[in-house]
Amino acid sequence: MDSGEASRPRTPSNIAAYFGRLADTYGDGAYYGNRRQAVLDALATEIANARDVLDAGCGNGAYLTKFVEAAGIRTVTGIDLTFDMLLSARNRVGAKCRLLSANVSRLPFKPESFDVIFGSHVLQFVVDIEGVVAEFVRCLQPGAVLIATGQRDDGVRHTLSAIVGPERWREYREVIFRRAERREADARPKDRYQQAFARAGLRVEERAAPFTVTWPDIAEWIRIRWMPLIPEAERGRAEAMIAELAQAGASRTLTQHEPLIIGRRER
Ligand SMILES: C[S@@+](CC[C@H](N)C(=O)[O-])C[C@H]1O[C@@H](n2cnc3c(N)ncnc32)[C@H](O)[C@@H]1O
Repeated sequence: MDSGEASRPRTPSNIAAYFGRLADTYGDGAYYGNRRQAVLDALATEIANARDVLDAGCGNGAYLTKFVEAAGIRTVTGIDLTFDMLLSARNRVGAKCRLLSANVSRLPFKPESFDVIFGSHVLQFVVDIEGVVAEFVRCLQPGAVLIATGQRDDGVRHTLSAIVGPERWREYREVIFRRAERREADARPKDRYQQAFARAGLRVEERAAPFTVTWPDIAEWIRIRWMPLIPEAERGRAEAMIAELAQAGASRTLTQHEPLIIGRRER
């Protein structure tokens, strides 16, 4: 089991405390930029047809900045648990969208408020996935779509663990990859999302958003995504591990596939 953050239970206040420390930087850098662009490309049709969009678990607004620029979109709303993420989102997006502090398990919206609900890397922090999906569906208009990203960053972590081997990897997980909460890792989280979407009566489709990253992109991602969570005293150790990974993996280019689960409500 991971140490530090990882031993905390998955409560809203623990999640908010965890993401509060990432509020200024989450989503920056080439790794996230390439991934986000791949997702936006894969969703070009849905975005072109969207009018009223909810970004659920919007974080610091990396996707909101894109939605507010899309030609046909009339209203953009972002919600998040983490107040500092919302502050950062407000700085990035300005007044062009509505931002609310809310939990996805209880949406402060009337039924049928949105024609697109988008949740990027948020369902993995939810305990009652079926309940949250039902709440999303309550807020979908007939014919509207619910879109969720289907996995964590396990593709990269899996590759890194293969580079250093299982024993060293345990140490890497403890020092660098501190998760938000204690949980059993979902082997195939996207399958769970698909099942929850189908149970809620949505017509489900899976789509992959492929993107490519190089080693320098991954080293940058580790510094952006994980370093702020590492206590000051252990950062030197983490930097040494990044250098070790660089030696082993410097020439690698990785193609990742961000899975998107898309559920359409019948008209
Ligand atoms: C991994 S970040 C993803 C941020 C953003 N969606 C993106 O892809 O750039 C997850 C975000 O979900 C938020 N979050 C987690 N659980 C939530 C919940 N139950 N309700 C609302 N937001 C939640 C966190 O505060 C955090 O900002």
